[in-house]
Amino acid sequence: MSISVQLSAASLQYAGAAQATFAGLNLNLPAAKWTCLLGPSGCGKTSLLRLLAGLIDSSHQLSGQISCSDGLSIDNRISYMAQQDLLLPWLNVLDNVCLKAKLLTGKVSAGEQHKARQLLAQLNLSGIEKSLPDQLSGGMRQRVALARTLMQDTPIVLMDEPFSALDAVNRYKLQDLAAKVLQGRTVLLITHDPQEALRLSDQLYLFSADQQLLPLPLPDSLPPRAVDAQLGQYQQSLLQKMQVLHG
Ligand SMILES: Nc1ncnc2c1ncn2[C@@H]1O[C@H](COP(=O)(O)OP(=O)(O)OP(=O)(O)O)[C@@H](O)[C@H]1O
Ligand SMILES: [Mg+2]
Repeated sequence: MSISVQLSAASLQYAGAAQATFAGLNLNLPAAKWTCLLGPSGCGKTSLLRLLAGLIDSSHQLSGQISCSDGLSIDNRISYMAQQDLLLPWLNVLDNVCLKAKLLTGKVSAGEQHKARQLLAQLNLSGIEKSLPDQLSGGMRQRVALARTLMQDTPIVLMDEPFSALDAVNRYKLQDLAAKVLQGRTVLLITHDPQEALRLSDQLYLFSADQQLLPLPLPDSLPPRAVDAQLGQYQQSLLQKMQVLHG
């Protein structure tokens, strides 16, 4: 089942920081849709994802509520693909994809291995199960990290600049692939690439310097959108808006 998520009045001030990273932030993630966030470096995008994922420890000043449309807790229903792929260099691809099971139980069942192989095949990665991460290209590593995220099979998926290390062609391909394999999930994507945001968003926000989330217009077509003249026009006006807001 798809779930929508409401973040209300979220505030975060890191221990020792002179001011809050953000305060009184509200964000709705509609069920089975992609919400994308753009914003300048250091504005608090990763912090917001970490807050949603429950990864900010109590040494920091944190407040706000997270509620899900089915009334259940968000715990254990969220997966988080971090800004760096964080593949463990000493584990092969299959074990990296099955990392959660390996960490929880120390072993990986035949069923989990089968599921991991299927996901790798879906991401065009068959045949590299025994390879180590440093034997792979950047694009392959990103796809392995995506497979690991999908392996967790959660209804809510957070992704922090997942395609940033890729060249334009592989980025485009992986955007299409991610839209396909994440269908039905509620996704929050952080990106610094306006074109990527415009291709993939069902709703798009710009994190402004005064810590507000500004909704941005999108083409009427459905994601993943082609990079056509219309998208180009949206991209142009988005870049102008970002220049005005961020100097
Ligand atoms: N664990 C932490 N302790 C203290 N301050 C932190 C911590 N993590 C992040 N910050 C600070 O919070 C602010 C927001 O950081 P965050 O990583 O959320 O930004 P970002 O928007 O994701 O930036 P980027 O686009 O560069 O990834 C920055 O000023 C950063 O230095
Ligand atoms: Mg970040």
